[in-house]
Amino acid sequence: MPLFNAAESLLSVAFEKRIAYYTERVAEKLDSVLPSASQPPKRLHDAMRYAVFNGGKRVRPLLVYAAGECLGLAESILDAPAAAIELIHAFSLVHDDLPAMDDDDLRRGKPTVHRQFDEATAILAADALQPLAFSVLADMQDVAATTRTKLVKLVADACGSTGMTGGQSMDLAAEGTAISTDEIETMYSLKTGALIHASVVSASILCEKLSPDRASAIDAFGRTIGVAFQIKDDILDVEGETHVIGKRTGADQRLGKATYPGLMGIDHARSRCDSLLRNALEQLDDFGAAADSLRWLARYIVERGN
Ligand code: IPE
Ligand code: IPE
Ligand code: MG
Ligand code: MG
Ligand code: MG
Repeated sequence: MPLFNAAESLLSVAFEKRIAYYTERVAEKLDSVLPSASQPPKRLHDAMRYAVFNGGKRVRPLLVYAAGECLGLAESILDAPAAAIELIHAFSLVHDDLPAMDDDDLRRGKPTVHRQFDEATAILAADALQPLAFSVLADMQDVAATTRTKLVKLVADACGSTGMTGGQSMDLAAEGTAISTDEIETMYSLKTGALIHASVVSASILCEKLSPDRASAIDAFGRTIGVAFQIKDDILDVEGETHVIGKRTGADQRLGKATYPGLMGIDHARSRCDSLLRNALEQLDDFGAAADSLRWLARYIVERGN
């Protein structure tokens, strides 16, 4: 189904319409890099595909494409970082849901990978999704080797012990404890913010002539909206209904998670989200209309219902 008629160019249609185009684009890329479920070991490949094609919103790939629009990049060079970061995100969720971590039975309204398959398969599927992300970046066409190396490092650091994995470790250590606002925000900036930040910064890395001021504005935008994303996730966990958000709500309270709404109250969490949004939008002031898609996504992140 064509998303645009012949007279329309991609950038002339509203971002809401481009979302369908971009999510389809990244789905095609993911499909092309993931081994077929009929290729042995079939159960492992089936589980990897289940983890990736299971109704995710694709916010991180959308941020890659929107940051690319902001910096005037060709969308063809954005497919690899968009897919790579989504693969890391998918792996992080498979582990996040395991009994040893958040012990969730539902993800996106469907059984979690360890429920649909088994725990060992879930662990291995996540193990295999992670290196696939780096393989996708290493394989990028029409991008200089030095730039590819920078992207590999960006995503590796965002994923590792001083990024997402470190934040997940802090999240587990903080269960049942009362930590300060600063400590919560540090944990959020790592467990969730790091990959969101890497999504927008991947476009900066691909932009050959980016001024230091613009690079630091994109950097600050990514950091700020990443923390807001997790506060909103925690608000949805308190307020959402399972059938709306597709995962078991109230789980954070059940696990004694140290969350912003749990420790500071829901009103404080909402106002912090709003102030982070304002701050993120201010970073885009010098980009004019080119940053409209990033603005749209920033608002979506704090206003979304799932
Ligand atoms: C959920 O992320 C996990 C967090 C980092 C808070 P998303 O809300 O982006 O999950 P999907 O991919 O859209 O399901
Ligand atoms: C997950 O945070 C962050 C990750 C790095 C996976 P949550 O544990 O709050 O995510 P959900 O609520 O299960 O999606
Ligand atoms: Mg968790
Ligand atoms: Mg969880
Ligand atoms: Mg959550």
